[in-house]
Amino acid sequence: MPPSLIQPCSWTVLMLLVSNLFLWEKVSSAPINVSEAVLHDLKNLFDNATVLSGKIAKLGVIMRKEFFSNSFSSDMFNKFILDLHKSQEKLIKSFNSCHTAPINIPETIEDVRNTSFEDFLKMIHHTLLAWKDPLKHLVTELSALPGCPYSILSKAKTIEAKNKDLLEYIIRIISMVNPAIKEKEDYPIWSDLDSLQSADKETQFFALYMFSFCLRMDLETLDFLVNFLKCLLLYDDICYVSEF
Ligand SMILES: *[C@@H]1O[C@H](CO)[C@@H](O)[C@H](O)[C@H]1NC(C)=O
Ligand SMILES: *[C@@H]1O[C@H](CO)[C@@H](O)[C@H](O)[C@H]1NC(C)=O
Ligand SMILES: *[C@@H]1O[C@H](CO)[C@@H](O)[C@H](O)[C@H]1NC(C)=O
Repeated sequence: MPPSLIQPCSWTVLMLLVSNLFLWEKVSSAPINVSEAVLHDLKNLFDNATVLSGKIAKLGVIMRKEFFSNSFSSDMFNKFILDLHKSQEKLIKSFNSCHTAPINIPETIEDVRNTSFEDFLKMIHHTLLAWKDPLKHLVTELSALPGCPYSILSKAKTIEAKNKDLLEYIIRIISMVNPAIKEKEDYPIWSDLDSLQSADKETQFFALYMFSFCLRMDLETLDFLVNFLKCLLLYDDICYVSEF
């Protein structure tokens, strides 16, 4: 994932630029060479995938907000954010520590233009795989945490389930575009389970803090990428203008 703090914002700017670029250049060829019938099926799969990715991204934002506002976690979360903002260095370091950071999502227009449709698919696939186990653990740990409100737990459960559903769609899309993409599943492994299970409340809640931060960021990036690929596939002016 892009490491910079300003990433969500820069993505928005980037998308405006990219969409203008495409409109300007009137790109006419599809990014992949498939038959009309396959293109039609892909379009249907992307329709459903974008609905899912949008729902999950929203849930990621809401869950993060609830950690900050619910008395279950609000004291800790507000303390962490204040502490982090005291040191720019610490802030950047912790925000760069998301386990998905090695999945290098392009950040500049040049990088985006140099990234193939298949490489974008690979990034989406690896990001979804990278969250599969951590989300399972999140649900288990939240269920075991005394006082964890149902509103947070239920969102974690829904995100976990929908992450799997989205993964299924992406796998179906990959099998139509180029099954070889699926062969190398070298996605980053999450290794924060010890902290999430820590008996020390501060360590445990800081793990939750980082988990919910990274998750929210990645879910928003995923939503953006899935929508972006759908646009590339369709080259639909309306999609560029209205989605971004
Ligand atoms: C697209 O695929 C078809 C059939 O697989 C092939 O005949 C055609 O040459 C390909 N076109 C390009 C531009 O690669
Ligand atoms: C998309 O979702 C709808 C509603 O859940 C479902 O009926 C349809 O079969 C799905 N389309 C594809 C291509 O999976
Ligand atoms: C992008 O591709 C162009 C031409 O294919 C190349 O000249 C350029 O160095 C590439 N840029 C990056 C950042 O890889």
